[in-house]
Amino acid sequence: MQKTNAAITAVGGYVPDYILTNAELETMMETTDEWIQSRTGIRERRILKGEGKGSSDMAVAAVNNLLQKKGIDPKEIEMVICATTTPDMQFPATANVICDKVGMTNAWGYDLNAACSGFIFALTVGAQFIETGRHNKVLVIGVDKMSSIMNYEDRKTSIIFGDGAGAVLLEPNNEGYGLVDSILRTDGSGRVFLHQKAGGSVKPATIETVMNKEHYVYQEGQAVFKFAVKNMADVAAEIMERNNLTAETVNWLVPHQANKRIITATADRMNLAPEKVMVNIERFGNTTNGTLPLCLWEWESKLRKGDNIVLAAFGGGFTWGSTYIRWAYDGN
Ligand code: UT7
Repeated sequence: MQKTNAAITAVGGYVPDYILTNAELETMMETTDEWIQSRTGIRERRILKGEGKGSSDMAVAAVNNLLQKKGIDPKEIEMVICATTTPDMQFPATANVICDKVGMTNAWGYDLNAACSGFIFALTVGAQFIETGRHNKVLVIGVDKMSSIMNYEDRKTSIIFGDGAGAVLLEPNNEGYGLVDSILRTDGSGRVFLHQKAGGSVKPATIETVMNKEHYVYQEGQAVFKFAVKNMADVAAEIMERNNLTAETVNWLVPHQANKRIITATADRMNLAPEKVMVNIERFGNTTNGTLPLCLWEWESKLRKGDNIVLAAFGGGFTWGSTYIRWAYDGN
């Protein structure tokens, strides 16, 4: 009997209405549209506005979009994994809040934090619950309100990030479609280059930490860039090799959207033609956990049953990884 795979059977997404353009950033800090576009490929990003609005609100919109498209009742969902680096609050988990707001009253769930690789990590975890037969409907969400931890006086970091959410539904498939393989990696020694200095148990929030802006993202961009270019390309090449995939048989690369130059380096390493690479960084920037599901959401109508899709990501931690999916349905 054919092994049970976890297949993505529906995709949902949401980006906030507010568009933060490079021109607006020029009024907030010493930068130029030319510098940002040439160094990162980003033209604009979306920002969630409104008091009391957090990551859960964007995730709820993405999940509702998915449930409506698929025509399923929220009560059918058995498990929710929310990949996020900007949870609504330290605890409880944002997954709980999402379940409550959507009415997924039969689901259990939790948050997973692997920074920009979170969606790939969560997808792999969620797939285990399908493959073992434990669950039949698992939601994997990638969401971040990066604007909530951004220091808009730090021109080296703030210009790349934006807000957004995406969600996918995992269901069992016995025809060979779905998640085939994944390679996941971490190297905690890289944490010094990309982290949040205060607000955790090592350095709880005080007036001083707030005054020192230690609750914002701290990033040594160049160092992160070097690791990202190498590791994202390496892991994507590795997953191709061990699954006997070639540049011809890969239909799509879904890369993390942190910097257009990192995406290009990964695609070049895979020898992929540019038209096989999903890129929306120019409109959404780096939405951290949101980038990969937002790509799937935007490209869903172009995807065909049997397409070979490689996902690749790199992020804070350091964390990185790649997943190979045989797509399970025709987009409409
Ligand atoms: O999402 C997961 C993890 N994150 C990443 O993968 C991000 C990886 N890193 C990057 O994408 C890039 O390092 C950045 C986009 C963050 C920065 O680009 P860079 O080409 O590495 O710039 P840099 O920090 O090396 O700065 C080069 C120069 C500096 O000027 P000097 O010292 O050479 O005179 C900066 O002060 O560019 C200057 N600069 C800017 N100028 C105008 C830095 N940021 C800006 C800016 N506008 N926004």
